[in-house]
Amino acid sequence: MPKTLTITQPDDWHLHLRDGAMLQGILPESARDFGRAIIMPNLVPPVVTLADATAYHGRIINALPASSDFTPLMTLYLTETTDANDVAAAHASGLVKAVKLYPAGATTNSDSGVKNIKNVMPVLERMASIGLPLCVHGEVTDPSIDIFDREAVFIDRVLEPLRQNLPELRIIMEHVTTKDGVDYIGETEKNLAGTLTTHHLIINRNDLLVGGIKPHYYCLPIAKRESHRLALVKAATSGDPRYFLGTDSAPHSDPNKESACGCAGVFSATNTMACLAHVFETAGALDRLEKFTSLNGPAYYRLPANTAKTTLTRHDSPVIFPEKIETKAGPVTVFDPGFPLHWSTS
Ligand code: NCD
Ligand code: ZN
Repeated sequence: MPKTLTITQPDDWHLHLRDGAMLQGILPESARDFGRAIIMPNLVPPVVTLADATAYHGRIINALPASSDFTPLMTLYLTETTDANDVAAAHASGLVKAVKLYPAGATTNSDSGVKNIKNVMPVLERMASIGLPLCVHGEVTDPSIDIFDREAVFIDRVLEPLRQNLPELRIIMEHVTTKDGVDYIGETEKNLAGTLTTHHLIINRNDLLVGGIKPHYYCLPIAKRESHRLALVKAATSGDPRYFLGTDSAPHSDPNKESACGCAGVFSATNTMACLAHVFETAGALDRLEKFTSLNGPAYYRLPANTAKTTLTRHDSPVIFPEKIETKAGPVTVFDPGFPLHWSTS
């Protein structure tokens, strides 16, 4: 008999779905396994207003496979001209579950992001008073700060002062990649949680750079040294309610990745659950997988957990996932964990 594990259906608390042909091509990859996902707003132009989010939500629903009951949870892209009343209306509509803070220039399509956090304080104060969470891309953009240090410096320069100023604001530090980030969240009593990606639990910077540069492992925040990866695995597998899954699955077509100036983003929607089952099994923590993928996230977002169940099956022979997803916007390479996967969700 193959070994099975039945858990509450998982959600993805940080996902890039893009738009148009790319959305059409990659949406089934998330809809297959996940009940809900927090949809990142970094389109070109970004999803800034409730009207933008409503229109984008409609395009996602239209692109869903007919039988799917996947629910996109929308976010607004915070700019220095965001209107606090529109944010409050977005929250009241029930469609928008978070606002996203990108430091200007930090990552893919973040040019309209925030240059000076002081300029968005009225919006953040309103969010704190209505209980709308802030998702944060936690990296400074100061060119003098080394790319491997940008997350740790963000905590000191931006996140800690913001939390001192506005302790009631509920924050999600997204795609935590450092022990510094894990420790900072671990010291916090309330109103701070962190998402962890699938790929940062699996790769370190050697995987990215040793033996030739691997563009499909390039993402932001960039993968760090092994000691950081181990801290992330410890946090994810701890069962601590402050850590949950946000895959940051971020498709770019292969020509845009395999380039002299390749885009940042790892596409892991297709095999994320198999990868995570492997990571948790290796850590002797399969009994805590459900907390990480299915329970901690909804609790932090004050939403019910999914009622549907997902059964993971462990196969003796490796499960073969597609290497690429072919879309009308070009092929998208699926994350290669670098080891055989033995788990599947069906
Ligand atoms: C994301 C993308 O491609 O939109 N890229 C990435 O490397 N993670 C943006 C982001 O979340 O930083
Ligand atoms: Zn992202």
